[in-house]
Amino acid sequence: MLALRLKSHHYMTALLSSTTILLILYLQNSLLVFTYGSYGFVSERSPCACSACMADRGKSNWFNERYNPNVPILLNSTNSVLNANVSSWWEELQYSPTAGNYTRVVDQLFHLFPDKEHYSDAGPDRCRICAVVGNSGNLLGSRYGPLIDHHDFVLRINKGPTEGYEKDVGSKTTHRIMYPESAVDLDNSTHLVLLPFKILDIQWLISAFSTKNITQTYMEVPSTIKANKDKVMIVHPEFSKYVYDNWAEGHARYPSTGFLTLIFALHICDEVNVFGFGATSDGIWHHYFEKTLTSYEIGIHGGKFENETINQLQQENKILIHRGWA
Ligand code: C5P
Repeated sequence: MLALRLKSHHYMTALLSSTTILLILYLQNSLLVFTYGSYGFVSERSPCACSACMADRGKSNWFNERYNPNVPILLNSTNSVLNANVSSWWEELQYSPTAGNYTRVVDQLFHLFPDKEHYSDAGPDRCRICAVVGNSGNLLGSRYGPLIDHHDFVLRINKGPTEGYEKDVGSKTTHRIMYPESAVDLDNSTHLVLLPFKILDIQWLISAFSTKNITQTYMEVPSTIKANKDKVMIVHPEFSKYVYDNWAEGHARYPSTGFLTLIFALHICDEVNVFGFGATSDGIWHHYFEKTLTSYEIGIHGGKFENETINQLQQENKILIHRGWA
């Protein structure tokens, strides 16, 4: 009898300790949030492990109306079919009516490049802090380099160089968003993220890593590129249309690469810090690495509206803008 009682006592102790250990692990990993519901206290798992999470939809109606967590971000063989709306919007952007057939082109794509569902790892264990680095001249003299390099992901855009500008822009690049006309060579560890504005852009990507026979779009483009083939990603045309509709609210012809990259970051990161965005006070779109000045308002992108949206994102505590020097 005594032996039986001792045994059940041991069982109870073991059960209690394992429950306590499990509870501690759960609390550590998921940052439990207790809310009072009609059935008493209920627990909600935090959407990420950072102190503030991008995917936390509880705080801003303005953000929630625009942010679609289910939009396809990057192309893969299972999501590549375009719906009629996306297809007609995207095809209107094409400069070249002689471009190939989208379905046939995309069929070749994933024989060459990784066919994955990227960045589906959001959850209570992830805290991914990203720097989106635009090409604005306001970076010059900023001394942001070490701060930028401290981020998990550093997303750079088009030709924006690091060499020679490390103090102000840093040296780390995990992703470079580009299209054929803005392509530059990359190191082996950087993701080439193609932003296709036309079918020919996807054909160029395939050609650059195989036959190297495409050298011309609406301008001369490099026939090949130094980059790690296994790190190539392609932005989904539906994502570009979503940014245009929901975030640029149909302003101009299509969003700027920087704006698309910023919204891309909102979808793959838990916290986003923004550097190198912004024209001069007199509306000049200047680059930190060259002297060419272009007017901010003229052209195919809605620079002013994009800027207002970026400022609003900061007001809603979704991003932090580092405004630089100029
Ligand atoms: O000029 P480019 O498109 O290569 O620059 C990358 C991005 O940086 C732009 O698409 C834009 O969003 C941002 N930018 C900016 N202000 C500037 C220059 C660039 O906001 N003066």
